[in-house]
Amino acid sequence: MSEFQTASQAKQAQNTEGIPLTELSIFPATKAQIYESRKRTFTMWGRGVTLEEYLKRDARYGGHEVSADGRLVTWVLARRDDPKGIDFLCSCETYKREGFVVNANATTGNSVVAYSVAALFTSPRNRKKGYATHLMRMLHWILAPPDDLPQFPTEVWGNQPDRGKWIDSEQIIKGHGGDAVFSTLYSDVGPEIYRGCGFLPGAEGWVVTDFLSSGWDVDSVGVFGVDDEDGWEWLDIKGVYDYWKVDADLMKREMEESNPTNAICTLLPDKGVAEFQIIRLSYFWNPLGITDWGLRRGKTFASWTIDVRPDSSYVMLITRLRAEVDEFENLVKMLVKFGRRHKISHFEVWGLKEEFREQFGFVKTWNKDIHLPSIKCYNSDDLKWLFNERFCYC
Ligand SMILES: CC(C)(COP(=O)(O)OP(=O)(O)OC[C@H]1O[C@@H](n2cnc3c(N)ncnc32)[C@H](O)[C@@H]1OP(=O)(O)O)[C@@H](O)C(=O)NCCC(=O)NCCS
Repeated sequence: MSEFQTASQAKQAQNTEGIPLTELSIFPATKAQIYESRKRTFTMWGRGVTLEEYLKRDARYGGHEVSADGRLVTWVLARRDDPKGIDFLCSCETYKREGFVVNANATTGNSVVAYSVAALFTSPRNRKKGYATHLMRMLHWILAPPDDLPQFPTEVWGNQPDRGKWIDSEQIIKGHGGDAVFSTLYSDVGPEIYRGCGFLPGAEGWVVTDFLSSGWDVDSVGVFGVDDEDGWEWLDIKGVYDYWKVDADLMKREMEESNPTNAICTLLPDKGVAEFQIIRLSYFWNPLGITDWGLRRGKTFASWTIDVRPDSSYVMLITRLRAEVDEFENLVKMLVKFGRRHKISHFEVWGLKEEFREQFGFVKTWNKDIHLPSIKCYNSDDLKWLFNERFCYC
């Protein structure tokens, strides 16, 4: 008996209602499996678009900077004896991204590799058999550096995934995995499912952190006292794309100058990461005729995307926000002016600084119950996730 087989771990491993986990493994999806997984996820994330539009939109993402050249890989949990079958059990996606880490008491940081996990999906008929949990646990064995991995629990999970067998993969997987310092995801299904997905049965996986969201309504903020002529610069898609590079450098410098007592990490908004938030929602904001996606004055900066709520009202989702206390209200007023011009009723921002949440009466703050930001660190237990904002949502 394996050292991992306590009673509950043995239950997970046996997976009595479904296929034994030893008979299953993770595989890079074939093109046909990717197509099938997108058709499946359409039922959940179609949001009123037609299947054709949904598939077309997804195909377009394939060429975007966040996904091109092997940065996006779709994974399936499938039978070891039928890894390319269309009847796979569960699927998910991983995006390779640049992260930045500053170790405790360090004054310089390092660029690192991080991954964002998305689109975990099990067909309704296969749910509650442990497949999603197993796919997520197996992901660590793909993403983490081999030196940070424990012994694979072969007795309960069968043979370890073997990249050497994927030379005929229909996706670019070279360079994808084996190098993660941390990975992130946003849970729509509470904190427990992903927490239970660690390297080994019973080990801890992704942990929810800083799940506050803040916002204000267009009518709750007066716009008296601000003017476009006061040195504000509106940024179109190219302008904001260029500014995210500046922003990413500023974020790194802020981290290095913060003298952290614990190791800290972040993802970065440049290289298409924040831009992706705009593109993926274009179907919804297209009717509004918006051409500006960022606003700045000095180092004060905000970028955004626009979504539509179930009651058909529009919400500006602020993807990055940087301001000093004495600039915050002016920035908000400018955004509200923009909102009034474009039928935007609500404003939402994730990870707003505590001082802004407390000092400004128009800011409402609540605990998110979906999109819970969650992190798993591979060679350190306690990286604190900074700049946990909307720009890197997946
Ligand atoms: C969430 C989902 C992937 C789980 O797939 P699955 O193969 O049934 O998952 P598992 O069998 O491994 O179950 C894992 C646990 O998550 C729980 N869970 C599943 N869906 C849940 C939900 N919506 N809310 C809270 N917990 C949920 C299960 O009850 C189970 O807990 P248990 O072991 O204590 O009974 C599946 O329900 C699904 O595809 N849902 C639609 C897409 C979605 O929401 N994806 C997640 C996006 S973050």
